[in-house]
Amino acid sequence: MRILITGITGFVGSHLAEYALDKEGVEVFGTVRWRSRMDNVEDIQDRIHLIDCDLRDNVAVKNTLDEVRPEYIFHLAAQSFVPTSWKAPAETLTTNIISELNLLESIRDLKLDTRIQVAGSSEEYGLVFEDEAPIKEDNPLRPLSPYAVSKVAQDYLAYQYNQSYGIFTVRTRAFNHTGPRRGQVFVTSDFSRQVALIEKGKKEPVIEVGNLEARRDFSDVRDIVRGYWLCLEKGEPGEVYNLGSGKAITIQELLDLILSMSDVEIEVRRMPERMRPSDVELLLCDYGKLNRISGWKPEIPFEQTVRDLMNYWRERV
Ligand code: GDD
Repeated sequence: MRILITGITGFVGSHLAEYALDKEGVEVFGTVRWRSRMDNVEDIQDRIHLIDCDLRDNVAVKNTLDEVRPEYIFHLAAQSFVPTSWKAPAETLTTNIISELNLLESIRDLKLDTRIQVAGSSEEYGLVFEDEAPIKEDNPLRPLSPYAVSKVAQDYLAYQYNQSYGIFTVRTRAFNHTGPRRGQVFVTSDFSRQVALIEKGKKEPVIEVGNLEARRDFSDVRDIVRGYWLCLEKGEPGEVYNLGSGKAITIQELLDLILSMSDVEIEVRRMPERMRPSDVELLLCDYGKLNRISGWKPEIPFEQTVRDLMNYWRERV
């Protein structure tokens, strides 16, 4: 069985590649760009096939799909950092929407019998009212950033290509996930890395933070990639599935957990430049729909995820 992972060198892509390689008879292909960093796939590089392909280039995408003819496609590649989407909204929208469009158009043109998972996001729900949580898939989408709007568009394109052309798309809305290799700009990695730097004496004992009141539903990336696989294996075409832990914590609680894992005395400093024009204040997942079709539920306790992430940064700073 051949699978193609877009964004294979990224955080989630590299974990999904490892998960797939553990399965019997799965051949893993992934797209890379000239600027892709290879550290995340260093250990598996000789067991995967990497193909140069900028997903914004429709000809390159069509050639790649024609060459690989995968049974499953996991579309993870995206501009995925919310604050960047305010600095570069056009780039975020273009990259995220056009890349997916090129994949869907190529599947259509080549008449490929492939299943494609499209990584949407819990950010699509955006503004959520207290009585709407835990959030089900039919909650209204009220996106609060250009990134979130790009994910709504990606999500609906996957729906539309299923309805219009019968392409086997499955839409996923994962809530926040983390673990080793998490990009350093995201909150779990940012805080863990700062603590690791302080422990090594490479930074003054002050941790810089933004909005600590927001509530997020964090899972381990290794649980999420297992869920993505099940979505393609057991999901209904055109459908959408939430993936998350079913628990929400404040960023303050996350910070306290990270600080409790270190012996060093650290001052907390709020930085206005780390605040967002509009932050999503409440994300709490109802993953019942995916659970009912596949039995999926998260297994790795969050304390272990954070400990693994802290150790990842301790080895790198
Ligand atoms: N990055 C960051 N840095 N976030 C901070 C900080 C800080 O110093 N201080 C507080 N926060 C708060 C943010 O304001 C936000 O409320 C929360 O921590 C999480 O921020 P991020 O880790 O940057 O993630 P995100 O929730 O914006 O988006 C992530 O999750 C989505 C799924 O819900 C990304 O992975 C998206 O790509 C993904 O779709």
